[in-house]
Amino acid sequence: MDTAPAGTLPGPTAGGHLRIKPSILYFGTPVVLVSTENPDGTFNLAPLSSAWALGRTVVLGLGGDGQTADNLAARPELALSLPAPEQWPAVERLAPLTGRHPVPATKAAGCRFEPDKFGAAGLTPEPSHGIRPPRVAGCPLQLEARATRVRPGTTGDFVIVEAAVAAVHADPRIVVPGTDHVDPGAWSPLVYNFRHYFGLGPELGHSYRTQTPRT
Ligand SMILES: Cc1cc2nc3c(=O)[nH]c(=O)nc-3n(C[C@H](O)[C@H](O)[C@H](O)COP(=O)(O)O)c2cc1C
Repeated sequence: MDTAPAGTLPGPTAGGHLRIKPSILYFGTPVVLVSTENPDGTFNLAPLSSAWALGRTVVLGLGGDGQTADNLAARPELALSLPAPEQWPAVERLAPLTGRHPVPATKAAGCRFEPDKFGAAGLTPEPSHGIRPPRVAGCPLQLEARATRVRPGTTGDFVIVEAAVAAVHADPRIVVPGTDHVDPGAWSPLVYNFRHYFGLGPELGHSYRTQTPRT
């Protein structure tokens, strides 16, 4: 384990790379908006970027101090809505919000409780077909799923969720006509790249938590 403070590690290693100690390892994964059901029957909405798919299973990494993790442990239905790149401001409006009250001390500085995340972000719920949590209207790709396993991660501060996808909804503009295929030329995920937002192209903006602002 490296014990030297950040920025003091000996520089260039073989091959010319710098050995660095970045504070985060968000190397660029698509943003997913996760809708889950709160204990009172209302719905929570949270942006995540620790999400990937294997077959019909989506695996999520969730902070253990969040309302989303709590909800999925008790009520396994979830909707996964994938925003388009131009929806990044709505995602960023969700960034400092939690559905958990009181706000846990472990949450990032500036995080505040918000019971109506859809309204706060200016997003519209759209009823799902086979589950209770709604999808996010306007997101080109939406998945209905059910958590099949929710288990603690090895460090104790996050949980790993495995979710089985039961239904996929796609905007006709990203579907190859007459097929079940998403057109990769028409669809671009919103990518969370070291706390900055990108599409499949130039940078679109950055999170309030960035440590490397460009402007
Ligand atoms: C773009 C983006 C990506 C994020 N990715 C994750 C993630 O993968 N896992 C996670 O637990 N939190 C992630 N967060 C932070 C959560 O959205 C944040 O902790 C939020 O308060 C969770 O809401 P909840 O407590 O209502 O569940 C991300 C935030 C943003 C803005």
